[in-house]
Amino acid sequence: MKNKEILSIISAIILVVLISCKHESIPPIIDDTTVPSGICFQDEVLPVIQSNCAYSGCHAAGGEDPDLSTYSSIKQLVNAGDPQNSKLYKYAIGSEMPPTPKTPLNLEQVTLIYGWIKQGAPDNSCACDTNVFTFNDAVLPIIKRNCWGCHGVNDDIPLVTYQNIFDNADNILADISYENNPMPKPPTAKLSDCKITQIRKWINAGKLNN
Ligand code: HEC
Repeated sequence: MKNKEILSIISAIILVVLISCKHESIPPIIDDTTVPSGICFQDEVLPVIQSNCAYSGCHAAGGEDPDLSTYSSIKQLVNAGDPQNSKLYKYAIGSEMPPTPKTPLNLEQVTLIYGWIKQGAPDNSCACDTNVFTFNDAVLPIIKRNCWGCHGVNDDIPLVTYQNIFDNADNILADISYENNPMPKPPTAKLSDCKITQIRKWINAGKLNN
């Protein structure tokens, strides 16, 4: 089959899925007490959406609908303050997105999207502190948000558990530090220098499960 034919079949499937979504009952309500305060779009929400959804052939920039690659395009699917009436939340909670081999977003990821919309959907960033470099406060959240969309449990290189991350630590540091073609791969953006420093310091301090 030619690429165009494949593309139009995929578009047809997506259309059917979208139409059938309209008949879904109202998505379950997230327990508000589980929503973290001050969710940061750039650090917590955008990388999850980019690494799970913003691929070419899926929801990349440039005509594909909907475009899930930037704040301004994502914002169009959001009713600030009202996740239940936001298309983005409805996609996130549906079991069809993202399709296999990727896995649907987990409750923690859906909760972040829900909470960010509820908190007014701002284009904000979290402060990053290079003095924080424990596994649980720095390394795991970075890997979870920026890498799991590709290196989940079903990937050849899973980076999910402490042991996975410990075993791959040196490759991880090398790959996130490259100037050209670093990990995470596009569409996810290069990690900030602060985040790279946090991972480097964790490795230099002995890669503890702390
Ligand atoms: C958009 C998809 C995607 C994202 C997001 C992503 N990766 Fe990868 N990664 C890949 C692919 C594909 C490969 C294997 C092919 C290659 O190396 O080009 C790979 C390979 C790797 C490897 C093995 C390469 C080697 O040196 O042997 C490591 C380590 C790695 N990624 C780390 C990470 C880390 C850390 C993150 C998050 C900061 C990340 N990746 C995010 C797609 C991704």
